Amino acid sequence: MEWRDAAHQNDAMTAAPTLPLIAIDGPSGVGKSTTARRVAARLDWQYLDTGAMYRATALAIHRAGISLDDRPSLERLLSMLNLAQKGERMYLAGEDVSEAIRSHEVTQRVTPVSANARVREVLVDQQRHIGSSGRWVVDGRDIGTVVFPKACCKIFLTASAESRAKRRFLELQAKGQPQAFEAVLEDLQRRDLADRSRAIAPLLKAADAVELDSSDMSLDQVVDWIVARHQAHP
Ligand code: DC
Repeated sequence: MEWRDAAHQNDAMTAAPTLPLIAIDGPSGVGKSTTARRVAARLDWQYLDTGAMYRATALAIHRAGISLDDRPSLERLLSMLNLAQKGERMYLAGEDVSEAIRSHEVTQRVTPVSANARVREVLVDQQRHIGSSGRWVVDGRDIGTVVFPKACCKIFLTASAESRAKRRFLELQAKGQPQAFEAVLEDLQRRDLADRSRAIAPLLKAADAVELDSSDMSLDQVVDWIVARHQAHP
């Protein structure tokens, strides 16, 4: 074999194969989950909500009364952690915790849990196990950078803090849980800072991700844009 052929063969073998998976990363309140779920439905793919996994883990840690610094107890809990997502519902040891993980309390507690290195190791492992078969839409903060760097399609979904806070403010009003706009905005900005500045797997755009600023787009427009982008670059 010519050295040139050998080099080509080598290139072909080492060229990173892509995984048929859409990674949607972005800050809190940008509408990733709703968008990802709708994109998955359009493609007839499955949807994985990794934020829900961190939330369910925070709930389990809270219920067990464990401190993140108590390494042996944390290890024991993680080794028995039984999470399952079925459709839009999240289960912890067989219990439907879909509502509980959206509570204000869990939202406050999840930030330090998601910044913990051991928690991330265990959950990233589970996420890879689930998604590695392909045909998944996965949303989170580190999906394109850490969990599935070979995803064929990476979207970094953004929107201004004000437009995200406005959506959240209206959502809370509709749910009958109104909060002052300023408080909603401050909470979002606090979570943005925590997600972006943490040492492990901070929120950042993968080099090969496309950024979509959805500040002035409707949900339908965002979904159409991602589906079209995926179809153009399968
Ligand atoms: O998207 P969400 O608000 O449900 O996420 C809950 C928390 O988990 C939030 O603190 C960000 C964190 N998270 C993360 O660190 N990595 C992910 N892949 C998904 C969520």
